[in-house]
Amino acid sequence: MGVMGFASASVFSSKLAAFLVLGLVLNLGLVCNGGKTSTFVRKVEKTVDMPLESDVFKAPHGYNAPEQVHITQGDQLGKAVIVSWVTVDEPGSSKVLYWSANSKKKTAVGKFYTYKYYNYSSPYIHHATVRNLEYNTKYYYEVGIGHTKRQFWFVTPPAVGPDVPYTFGLIGDLGQSFDSNKTLTHYELNPQKGQTVLFVGDLSYADNYPNHDNHRWDSWGRFVERSVAYQPWIWTAGNHELDFAPEIGETKPFKPYTHRYHVPYKASGSTSPLWYSIKRASSHIIVLSSYSAYGKYTPQYKWLEEELPKVNRNETPWLIVLVHSPWYNSYNYHYMEGETMRVMFEAWFVKYKVDVVFAGHVHAYERSERVSNIAYNVINGICSPVKDQSAPVYITIGDGGNLEGLATNMTEPQPAYSAYREASFGHATFDIKNRTHAYYSWHRNQDGYAVQADSMWFFNRYYHPVDDSTSAQS
Ligand SMILES: *[C@@H]1O[C@H](CO)[C@@H](O)[C@H](O)[C@H]1NC(C)=O
Ligand SMILES: *[C@@H]1O[C@H](CO)[C@@H](O)[C@H](O)[C@H]1NC(C)=O
Ligand SMILES: *[C@@H]1O[C@H](CO)[C@@H](O)[C@H](O)[C@H]1NC(C)=O
Ligand SMILES: *[C@@H]1O[C@H](CO)[C@@H](O)[C@H](O)[C@H]1NC(C)=O
Ligand SMILES: [Fe+2]
Repeated sequence: MGVMGFASASVFSSKLAAFLVLGLVLNLGLVCNGGKTSTFVRKVEKTVDMPLESDVFKAPHGYNAPEQVHITQGDQLGKAVIVSWVTVDEPGSSKVLYWSANSKKKTAVGKFYTYKYYNYSSPYIHHATVRNLEYNTKYYYEVGIGHTKRQFWFVTPPAVGPDVPYTFGLIGDLGQSFDSNKTLTHYELNPQKGQTVLFVGDLSYADNYPNHDNHRWDSWGRFVERSVAYQPWIWTAGNHELDFAPEIGETKPFKPYTHRYHVPYKASGSTSPLWYSIKRASSHIIVLSSYSAYGKYTPQYKWLEEELPKVNRNETPWLIVLVHSPWYNSYNYHYMEGETMRVMFEAWFVKYKVDVVFAGHVHAYERSERVSNIAYNVINGICSPVKDQSAPVYITIGDGGNLEGLATNMTEPQPAYSAYREASFGHATFDIKNRTHAYYSWHRNQDGYAVQADSMWFFNRYYHPVDDSTSAQS
């Protein structure tokens, strides 16, 4: 038994009872049946939303100035970008003006949409897809043409290929609390510069307000603009995107989300914006919906069944899945909520050697061993997760910092499949080096920007499928 600083990666022997004095910052680690449960104690503060008059929610000056500007990938390969923004005074122009250092100014024309939710009427929500971009190029773009123009920029990814390095950021369950702002700031200031965010669902938490006050969708859009106007965020739908509220007459699930956040789902043959795929650099990214039907014969099931054989690991060695509700989660929050989807799809993930599955939903952090639990049928009773080198690592990164606060209550003892878990807010980066290696690290908000609280070298399951478990040595 021992006590150590949380920055140390070493692991303790056998069982350790840890008694924590509230308010005292102790840094302990312990090994039970499973991996490490970090008992790092964060400062005990309530998680509260930033008030609407906060600096991060300020609307830009000027008549009909575009606000809530955000971009995401606009096609399968990264040569298109969907530019979205909101105008409040009148529709104005849905045009985007864009150019690079060595190209003429061009225009992409989009459309605007509005929706009503209970007694809320949305402003004008514009979406325009900018196509035929050069790879690996910095583009400037302007929206608000004809009224108040605002200028932003983004960098297109390199062409898809097996050894293209690329760094993804991972953020989930962000919300708009003071902690959310810390998470975003830490992501922005992380020296491992993320180039695109893989967002694992639960964006604004507007639904926690009376009548799902959609003004909190608007404030969230203004809050995250400082990142998502300059680099794509790849969207996954969470339960807080449902906005299903029959008690106030709102029976169309995902109404605010699907109006505000467009994704390139048709490019991957999907029939719904709630599940789709993209290729970016050396990765193939599959986004699934925990809150849409996925049983046999359903549209999502059929799409995924056809999608997985299309993944070409010679072109995109890294196969990454995003889904909101985790399949392997040892917290006493949302325990086993992901189970039915796991039962449907886990065997495919093993067959197609998915490298990593990122989920959110549980407001804490957890990383699993490579495990699978696919031997079970109704008769044989074989129902325990086992180590499996063809299986993905499951990472829960629902620790963005929303107003619902941290999940702190964990199942005990730590299950063998759980490699590391900690109840702290933070974000992660997944830094692909080449076809065989990717460096993953998790950063908690209490640390300095460069500190890695948990990390792992991922060995690609197709090109280098050797044991990459962080506990393999012990
Ligand atoms: C919407 O309804 C709520 C509660 O009934 C009320 O407080 C709010 O002022 C209304 N908003 C509008 C725009 O009517
Ligand atoms: C949010 O974070 C930014 C960047 O660190 C800071 O400038 C701003 O004052 C913060 N706002 C609030 C309300 O915490
Ligand atoms: C933790 O969760 C378990 C299972 O739901 C529950 O029995 C227990 O009371 C919880 N502990 C605390 C401190 O909330
Ligand atoms: C791939 O990246 C890893 C980590 O940076 C490095 O050790 C390895 O040599 C690289 N492989 C090739 C073929 O360059
Ligand atoms: Fe959630």
